Amino acid sequence: MSAPAPRPRVRADIDRAFLEDVVAGLSATPKTLPSKYFYDAAGSELFERICELPEYYPTRTERALLQQHADAMADALGPRVLLIEPGAGSGEKTQLLLQALDRPAAYVPVDISGEYLAEVAHGWRSQFPHIEVLPVAADFTQAFSVPRVTATPSRRVVFFPGSTLGNFEPSAARQLLSAFRKLAGEGGRLLLGVDLQKDVSILERAYDDAAGVTAAFNRNLLMRINRELGGRFDLDSFAHVARYDDTHHRIEMHLRSTRDQVVSVAGTAVRFRSGETIHTENSYKYTPESVRALAAAAGWRAQARWLDPDCWFGVFLFAA
Ligand code: AVI
Repeated sequence: MSAPAPRPRVRADIDRAFLEDVVAGLSATPKTLPSKYFYDAAGSELFERICELPEYYPTRTERALLQQHADAMADALGPRVLLIEPGAGSGEKTQLLLQALDRPAAYVPVDISGEYLAEVAHGWRSQFPHIEVLPVAADFTQAFSVPRVTATPSRRVVFFPGSTLGNFEPSAARQLLSAFRKLAGEGGRLLLGVDLQKDVSILERAYDDAAGVTAAFNRNLLMRINRELGGRFDLDSFAHVARYDDTHHRIEMHLRSTRDQVVSVAGTAVRFRSGETIHTENSYKYTPESVRALAAAAGWRAQARWLDPDCWFGVFLFAA
């Protein structure tokens, strides 16, 4: 089973929202594009390849934490939990957790794409025939309701692995954790996977791999604009840039124009100076203490945590 990645919206919605966001982002100073548009079919495939790169440690480190500690996590969560996974993939990490849980009441994968969900739900049901799987097609950053479960759950557990939280600005991350707090309700739990601060060279290599997969992932955004919005980006004149911003504790990804140029995007002429960049993604890196503080501000109390020996990645358990 492959790594989870955000899935695209219904097509008609995308086109309008995509166009508006692209025009707004490229008209702004400095220029930006929202990272959520990375994940069309080609981008999702590239992201899956990123997850297996030698330089991209987060996926394998978090997977190892689940392989080693899923039983302890399951013990801490207790029997008959209702497991809710916002932005659910078909991931091995969920599989490891579901296997370890004591008689889970149900599994609720939440994803924006109903089509994708139907596919993964089928996989989950055949793999775990004894677990009720109740997919919810929704944007997990907005409120959604959880379907009625046949068995009576002991509590709700929100599972949010993959350090997806890192792609949210800190205030949006706090809001998201508050929404998860509401979703989990009294007695609820949050099991959260977060990438941690470390040596800059390790971070920058993880986002600028030798095989150029992350560069292709970044440039795919321009390719997508060309494909879907009739853009005229010359991909060879935009360089992939990944750098760590020590002040904000985040990896920034940019696309840097290698020359002065004017690019037509959906009838709008966008002017680039040589060296000017489009800021395409932030990936915030936390410390165990800053994760705890962020979660506390959203109404969560730290209960347990599992870190790898190098303290590169953490899985944190919080109680409502
Ligand atoms: C999905 N997300 C957690 C990834 C990250 O590490 O921020 C996205 C990514 N961007 C470049 N490589 C991976």
